[in-house]
Amino acid sequence: MKFFVDTAEIADIAEMADLGLCDGVTTNPSLIHKSGRDFLEVIAEIAGMVEGPVSAEVVAEDHAAQMREADKLLTLGDNIAIKCPLTLDGLKTTKALAGNGVAVNVTLCFSANQALLAAKAGAAFISPFVGRHDDIGYDGMNLINDIRIIYDNYGFETEILVASVRHPIHILESAKIAADIVTAPAKVLKALASHPLTDKGLAAFTADWAKTGQSIV
Ligand code: E4P
Repeated sequence: MKFFVDTAEIADIAEMADLGLCDGVTTNPSLIHKSGRDFLEVIAEIAGMVEGPVSAEVVAEDHAAQMREADKLLTLGDNIAIKCPLTLDGLKTTKALAGNGVAVNVTLCFSANQALLAAKAGAAFISPFVGRHDDIGYDGMNLINDIRIIYDNYGFETEILVASVRHPIHILESAKIAADIVTAPAKVLKALASHPLTDKGLAAFTADWAKTGQSIV
């Protein structure tokens, strides 16, 4: 299972890379806004520090303008994945870009039927938003399960990139369903390492070690 970092913060990406937890990066217009950085500049910087795919989202809503934006974004690095919204225009853009060998991440997916369309358009990644599904009273993980079944039924190679991940249980459930990738903020990825019994055990070992009066180095 691959871990992408869902951020436009350089420090978070560097920290996750040092931990071996950054197989790629996803951004969106809201994350760019939050960073306060110039969009093209920050995407180029991220693309230069990460080996895996870096998703940069088109903001135009019509196909022709999306293609122009994608052309520009693709100049920022050879690992750029173009993020397209799950609309008819976005699917048209996905098909055109994928036909030219560009990796497309289809975003804002909220139904398995939408995911089916993205796969048929040749998307490299589909981004179902589990947290936003949960927010309105659905179980976002059901969506991931349905997409996994459908993609396996037909042998689609589109990777399921679980997005809008809010807590470690989303990642646990994604792994059990065999989603290909999760994208999450650094704080959620770091939370995977936490367990109170680990902290308690470490405190006890440290205290007992001090009582031995020994040192290793
Ligand atoms: C990633 O591709 C998405 O844009 C992101 O995970 C959305 O997360 P949010 O619902 O927490 O904003």
